[in-house]
Amino acid sequence: MDTFGIGIESSCDETGVALIKNGREIIANPLFSQINIHKEYGGVVPEKASRAHLEKIPYLLKEITDIIDKKNIKISYIAVTARPGLAGSLLIGYNAAHALKLIYNKPVIPIHHLEAHLYAPLLENEKITYPFLGLLLSGGNSGLYYIKGISKIKVIGDTLDDACGEALDKAAALLKMPYPGGPHIEKNANEFIRKQKTLKKNTSAIKNPLPVILKNQPPDKFQFSFSGLKTALLYFLKDKPKNITTEEIAYYFQERVIEIVLRNVKNAIRKYKIPAVVAAGGVLANQTLKTALKELCEKENVKLIVPSPFLCTDNAAMVAAAGYLYFKAKNNLNIKSVSSKISFF
Ligand code: KG4
Repeated sequence: MDTFGIGIESSCDETGVALIKNGREIIANPLFSQINIHKEYGGVVPEKASRAHLEKIPYLLKEITDIIDKKNIKISYIAVTARPGLAGSLLIGYNAAHALKLIYNKPVIPIHHLEAHLYAPLLENEKITYPFLGLLLSGGNSGLYYIKGISKIKVIGDTLDDACGEALDKAAALLKMPYPGGPHIEKNANEFIRKQKTLKKNTSAIKNPLPVILKNQPPDKFQFSFSGLKTALLYFLKDKPKNITTEEIAYYFQERVIEIVLRNVKNAIRKYKIPAVVAAGGVLANQTLKTALKELCEKENVKLIVPSPFLCTDNAAMVAAAGYLYFKAKNNLNIKSVSSKISFF
């Protein structure tokens, strides 16, 4: 018999509700992105985020419940992002999940948002076997994880300060680019590379004036840190050479960011000897990073799994996919205590 599950996501600035089948097939995945609401502030404003979730979630829920009614679908579980996230925003999704519980009389499965990201590839028919390495780079998180099974996640690397996407956004703001800045940094960097190629110049020969991040980090440590790079950029801009372009500076910043990601992933692959890396989060929309990761994984003989961009960023289908794993494992997991059970240790 088919298993249908609902997913709800409202941890930050995306409101999402999804309906999926057998943990793999997306039936509907409506999403409302709040980017335009937060744009003028240069970052997510928590109070505005909560209000936007509250305003939009009834419409998304209706879209899903209409399909359920029309097709006479029997729901088995309701999965909802429980943490981490903005408290006011999480509460809206959590309350919606409990309202659905009253309608369908099915369990609410609280899901850890980061764990959900790691299972998004299941929705594109990827096979995930344990153990694997998880890499998450978004506006709010930067981390490396060693995953032994559902809810068995060891945090092996985290950021000491800013998240990767946050750093790209802040650098872009310093360079007077619009929010969110990550895509603009990439676009400008690409333009610099393109122009260098036309001039028949080799970018790898150019000396990057920005500092290498965590240069002396030993190979068995996988921390990230971006605030020093951001400060270095700030000082560089105060006294920058006259002929340097914004495109060139964007290239330097992006190069340093990609460098620390690759170094950490390479060292983690070597230490943990895992067969696959799952990489997700909004920053994975960056094609230069994705290509570099692909090359690294090929060299290290490891499979790289990166979901499509719409599954890389926050969405409710990934929450439903992770919920399915918990639902199926209910014989050996106490669903009621899942949120406290998830051992991000
Ligand atoms: O996972 P995500 O969509 O949402 C939150 O974290 O809320 O990640 C958003 C982040 C932003 O910081 C954005 O600048 C970054 O992902 N991002 C990118 C690119 N596209 C989005 N960073 C670099 N290159 C991109 N092409």
